[in-house]
Amino acid sequence: MTIDTHRVPIRLARDAGSLMASGRSEANALSEQSESKGARERLIVALDFPTLADATEMVGELVSLVSWFKVGSELFTSCGPDAVAMVRAFGVRVFLDLKYHDIPTTVGRAVTSAVRLGVSMLNVHVAAGPDALREAAAAAAGTDTRVLGVTVLTSHETDGPRAVVEAARLARACGLHGVIASAREAIAIKEACGSEFLVVTPAIRPPSAPGFDQRRIVSAAEAIAAGSDYLVVGRPITSAPRPREAVEMLLDEIEAALRN
Ligand code: C5P
Repeated sequence: MTIDTHRVPIRLARDAGSLMASGRSEANALSEQSESKGARERLIVALDFPTLADATEMVGELVSLVSWFKVGSELFTSCGPDAVAMVRAFGVRVFLDLKYHDIPTTVGRAVTSAVRLGVSMLNVHVAAGPDALREAAAAAAGTDTRVLGVTVLTSHETDGPRAVVEAARLARACGLHGVIASAREAIAIKEACGSEFLVVTPAIRPPSAPGFDQRRIVSAAEAIAAGSDYLVVGRPITSAPRPREAVEMLLDEIEAALRN
């Protein structure tokens, strides 16, 4: 069976009504480097949904406020590249969070396929080893896709930043653009790897919000203060009674932290 990866998401996007409507600025004309990025360019909303329809509805609701969405294991396993095409059809960026961890050739080929989908960011487990990391970096070389190394999952506790910083050093040495790490390690990573080396931080929680399975939790303001370049937020937005309000509060918090 042949699946047209373009028609389905565009139709769904239109069906969701008012989705491409008013207020969406030139979100895809984002600058790459962190120094010029405002709050909107730093927030990545995790689309952890079981169906394309659910994800499309959430993107439609938030796209006038948000420039990045993350497609992870749940959504990609359910509907594959259609999820990426759906987000791109709204004119915003995709972080493909599939955390590749395999032999070097397979990792390199997976990155080549992801680059073809037009994702702006993807990730590979640093634990896959230096050869796999080099293959990943080579597969994305010369493209606009940023390759990040997964260090220690934020659902694990750590005994200080040492293991995460070591993973970041290896990722940098192998040509990756940055790492996924808690903001607790961000300062040490920037010291070890330089300010241009990206730190993308999940496990962001407003002070009173439940952590769920996350452990190395920080607030958005703390993450920005620590130097995280991008903040990945899922349930505090997507499970909120009013997701747009949750985004607006986070953007205000990020903006205020950027001014300090
Ligand atoms: O709902 P919550 O805000 O905890 O979602 C965090 C998102 O970031 C999830 O989609 C999770 O898979 C992802 N993520 C993570 N830790 C990493 C990489 C990605 O929590 N190291």
